[in-house]
Amino acid sequence: MANVANPTPRGFTLWFTGLSGAGKSTLAQRVAHELRARGSPVEVLDGDEVRQNLSKGLGFSKEDRDTNIRRIGYVCHLLSRNGVVAIAAAISPYRAVRDEVRRMNGRFFEVYVCCPVAKLIERDVKGLYRKALAGQLSGFTGISDPYEEPANPELVLHTDRESEDESLARLLQALELGSYLNSGPPHR
Ligand code: ADX
Repeated sequence: MANVANPTPRGFTLWFTGLSGAGKSTLAQRVAHELRARGSPVEVLDGDEVRQNLSKGLGFSKEDRDTNIRRIGYVCHLLSRNGVVAIAAAISPYRAVRDEVRRMNGRFFEVYVCCPVAKLIERDVKGLYRKALAGQLSGFTGISDPYEEPANPELVLHTDRESEDESLARLLQALELGSYLNSGPPHR
């Protein structure tokens, strides 16, 4: 039964945008874990996973990326209007389609996961920056394809100079301050 003094907040869409390897998926999983622990129904739509099913067959042209983002945004809309916290983690490099998705979704919280390309090249967990720099992978975001930074995101996380725990704590605090979340116990 709903607690009248501390009602369960409604669903919303939590949208992570940023370059490959910046930390979107990791933060999406960490915040999902925390929200579930606080009793919220949560679903994560992760770019890599979505491209295996919902967006299978799409490539990385502007048109295909925009289609991918519209699909993810539409599913977030369906989920969030039914009380789910829908979490998207996709590069979503183009501002216009991100803003389109924002308009489609009622409550929308955009997080820019920001990390300088030089740092991402250094980390290169998937080895894709090396391939892109060697010219073996064309149209790679941040190297040979554009990334348009959000003009007015709800939050910017700097994953080159914040620890994962710090970024997660800042995100939870911002969600609480914006009344997207009830305050809960400190994250684990
Ligand atoms: S988006 O641009 O449509 O939002 P999405 O997040 O789904 O991209 O997929 C990005 C992932 O696809 C990257 O993390 C990387 O693993 C892989 N990838 C493969 N080719 C590219 C490319 N040309 N540009 C960016 N990411 C690519």
